[in-house]
This record gives sequence, C-alpha cells and structure tokens, in this order.
Amino acid sequence: MYESTLRDRTPGTVVLRTKKLTKWYGAVKALNDVDLEIRTGDVVALVGDNGAGKSTFAKLISGAITPTSGIIEFLGQDVEFQDPSQARKLGIETVYQDLALVPHIDVGGNLFLGREPTKFGSLGRIFGILDLKSMRTSAWASLERLKVKLPSVTTPIGSMSGGQRQATAIARSVLWGSELILMDEPVAALGVQETEEALKLIEDVASHGVPLVVISHNLEHVFRVANRIIVFRLGRLAVDIQTKDTTPQEIVGYITGAKK
Ligand SMILES: Nc1ncnc2c1ncn2[C@@H]1O[C@H](COP(=O)(O)OP(=O)(O)O)[C@@H](O)[C@H]1O
Ligand SMILES: [Mg+2]
Repeated sequence: MYESTLRDRTPGTVVLRTKKLTKWYGAVKALNDVDLEIRTGDVVALVGDNGAGKSTFAKLISGAITPTSGIIEFLGQDVEFQDPSQARKLGIETVYQDLALVPHIDVGGNLFLGREPTKFGSLGRIFGILDLKSMRTSAWASLERLKVKLPSVTTPIGSMSGGQRQATAIARSVLWGSELILMDEPVAALGVQETEEALKLIEDVASHGVPLVVISHNLEHVFRVANRIIVFRLGRLAVDIQTKDTTPQEIVGYITGAKK
C-alpha cells in the first residue's frame, strides 16, 4: 500500500480527484458520474436533499464501500480501497453519519495516549511536530474543550451518549486526518454548545490547510465554515461554486432543482 507523508503541500495542490465516480445499489443510482477535485486549503461543504448521494460519496472516499465504476485518484495515484483502514493509512479520516457503521470508537483518552507525536495529523501540521509542547493556539483550545465533553477512558463505549460518540469521532478525525478529513453531518447529534465547539474546531483545522469536506444540512453552518460549496442532486453534481459567489437562496435552488 501507499504511505502517508506529513510533508507540507503547496496550497491548491490536488489531494483528491474523482472521475465519473459512480455507485449503484441494484437499480438505484446513488452516485452518478461525479467529477470533482479537492485541494489543500479547501473547506468544501457538500450539500443536497436526502438521498442525493452525499453519504455514498463519503463512504466511497473512505473505503467503506467500493465504486460501481469510475476512478478515485488520491495524491496523484489511482486508489482502490478495500476497507477504511487502507484509506486511513493514507491520512484520510472520516466521521460517518451513521455511527453504527463504525466498528469501534476510542473513548476520550485513547485519542491522545499511546500515539507517536510524529504521527499526529492535522495537529502535527498545525503546530509542527517539534512544537507539541507549545500547543496554545485556538485549535488546541477548541479540541481541549471538545475533549472535556468526552467520557473518561474507563467509560464503557456502550454507555456513551450520541453527542459523546460524535465528539469523539470529530476529535479523532482532526487528530489523525493528515491529508483529508470527511465529516458526514458532524454536528447533527450535538447540543448547542458542543455544536459551537465543533464548528470552531472545523474552522481552526480548515485555516491550517488540511482539506476538509463537510456534509451538512445547515446552510448557516455551511456559509460560516466553507469556502466552496458542492451541491449533489439525485446522485449528480449540480453545482460546484465558491461560497463568496453564491447565496443561501441560490444553493436552495440547486438543492431543489429549481435552479440548474
Ligand atoms: N446500502 C444501500 N442499499 C441500497 N440503497 C442505498 C444504500 N445506501 C444508500 N442507498 C440509496 O442511495 C441513495 C443515496 O443515498 P445517500 O448517499 O445515503 O444519500 P444522502 O446522504 O445524500 O442522504 C438513496 O436513494 C439511498 O436510498
Ligand atoms: Mg447521508
């Protein structure tokens, strides 16, 4: 397999490229001929109605499912992930919408303990691997605040609340996602204050160059954190536009199909 590296990449480097990416479930075309590129520095909001294919896209990129046809290119190489561990090895971390899909979720302390600092993902990028002792920026503070919401290492996973599981998954993705982070409805299960912390964390990670794809229904969140918006409709890419060049009204039009 391929090795993930932690070298800095020039802003605008293409990290992920899909070519005619397609996934059928029997007769259901969940994703249809999707061509897109994700580059370093991108914070992309992926939006669309229920059933538009957003989760299917995230699962394909994270190796949870395999495409019916089409190509996934990661850092310039064609990849065919057989399972999520292969994607994770390359530095792709995913927060799944349906946490029941995740075979195991580390409890709070396990996010931080027993890992080599040099293998830190986004945080390694943010602070530099030699600078872990001086993690005093807002990103770390946000993560610390999110961590406070997590149960202790001794808490059985089965007794974690939906919000705790979600916060754990978000923190984990930020810690280990060194090349690409995918979040599928990351704040859907969170309370108001947890949501605010999670959004701050997303903004902090985003400002440090690790490309991020966030699936969300909440256009207020989308316009706050994303610099680019991609709309899926009925399994197809409807629009791919810079946030500054559009409005929530226009995005709703693309989501419903009123605008083409
Ligand atoms: N495992 C599956 N088996 C059959 N159909 C599926 C499966 N997963 C998703 N679909 C179908 O694929 C389409 C896209 O689903 P999904 O990617 O979950 O949409 P979104 O996340 O945008 O709501 C929907 O019509 C959905 O019913
Ligand atoms: Mg979904």
